[in-house]
Amino acid sequence: MLHPVVLSGGSGTRLWPLSRQNQPKQFLALVGDRSLYQETVLRANALPGVQPPITVCSDDHRFMVGEQLQAVGVASGGILLEPMARNTAPAIALAALQALRLDPEATLLVMPADHLIEDEGAFRAAVGAAMALGEEGWLVTFGIRPEYPETGYGYILRGDALGEAGFRIERFVEKPDLATAETYVADGRYAWNSGMFLFRAQRYLEELQLHAPGIVEAARKAYEVASADLDFTRVDADAFSASPSESIDYAVMEKTDRAAVVPVTCGWSDIGSWSSLWSVAERDADGNHHEGDVISIDSRGSLVRASERRMVATIGVEDLVIIDTADATLVARKDRVQDVKAVVDALKAAG
Ligand code: GDD
Ligand code: MG
Repeated sequence: MLHPVVLSGGSGTRLWPLSRQNQPKQFLALVGDRSLYQETVLRANALPGVQPPITVCSDDHRFMVGEQLQAVGVASGGILLEPMARNTAPAIALAALQALRLDPEATLLVMPADHLIEDEGAFRAAVGAAMALGEEGWLVTFGIRPEYPETGYGYILRGDALGEAGFRIERFVEKPDLATAETYVADGRYAWNSGMFLFRAQRYLEELQLHAPGIVEAARKAYEVASADLDFTRVDADAFSASPSESIDYAVMEKTDRAAVVPVTCGWSDIGSWSSLWSVAERDADGNHHEGDVISIDSRGSLVRASERRMVATIGVEDLVIIDTADATLVARKDRVQDVKAVVDALKAAG
């Protein structure tokens, strides 16, 4: 059976000042009325024959997750609480253990909680194709046609065809440098890794055992002595803290020789920064996206978000991001928004 796993433990620092430690971006209604997390569980729940989604998140966000799930009326497959972040490889290991407890044949569909998908039909078709490969023991990724040399993504070189809809992965490279990413985009055979995965839970643990045994060991111990409270499972802090902090991409996907890719065109986007939010948001004739009380005169290509407390007016500006909140305001050039992370780092350093 197919068990969706919604990864919701990221901190979303590049969407500061809206995204904060106590309310990271996946729990915010950034586009439309629902949060990205809610959109993700609804997307999971709409898959045919699917089990209720398992959420893996920080202990700090348990109430928010519980409330947001309930608000969209999606049954829960359990909420696994991490006492500290150890990145995605251990988080997925916990979900695998949870799914296997109920279903020894469990297949996992790993879904980051902070993505948008416009064409759900195309997404469902791709999951169907991936299911067939997952059942044969492949670790399946979903490949997106690259648009520009993004260095924040994984790159997948496809090899021989596997049936109708998939390919063996020849090479998986997580977050290459710019020069390398440029050659991959020019090459034409590479896809972006969407960050969604499908595999048998048992196969994932076997691959982890092979390539990162410390992670499985820590996850098993942490899950064994977890304490359960209603829908929440809080894993053991001492055991979990012993896990290496590694992403599935580095720990497994770059190393395994049983990886496959299903290419998909489904209007996928990772809302990683203010400029990516601007690019998927509805814009007026001047290319502006406004939220809240905003007046703009002769302004173009900008994302402006007013807070509830006051209005924002712009005159003659271009390609800016202006985000006003109760206690902080960001003004940045749209092509510099990756550096928002530096602001957050500076704030952290200042304590
Ligand atoms: N539960 C939990 N615990 N979730 C986590 C943790 C953690 O410690 N760390 C990250 N996540 C969640 C994030 O909230 C996000 O939904 C997802 O896991 C992926 O983590 P990111 O930190 O956003 O990864 P990335 O964007 O740098 O890279 C991944 O996604 C790209 C596409 O968006 C990789 O899979 C890349 O290869 C891929 O191209
Ligand atoms: Mg991401």
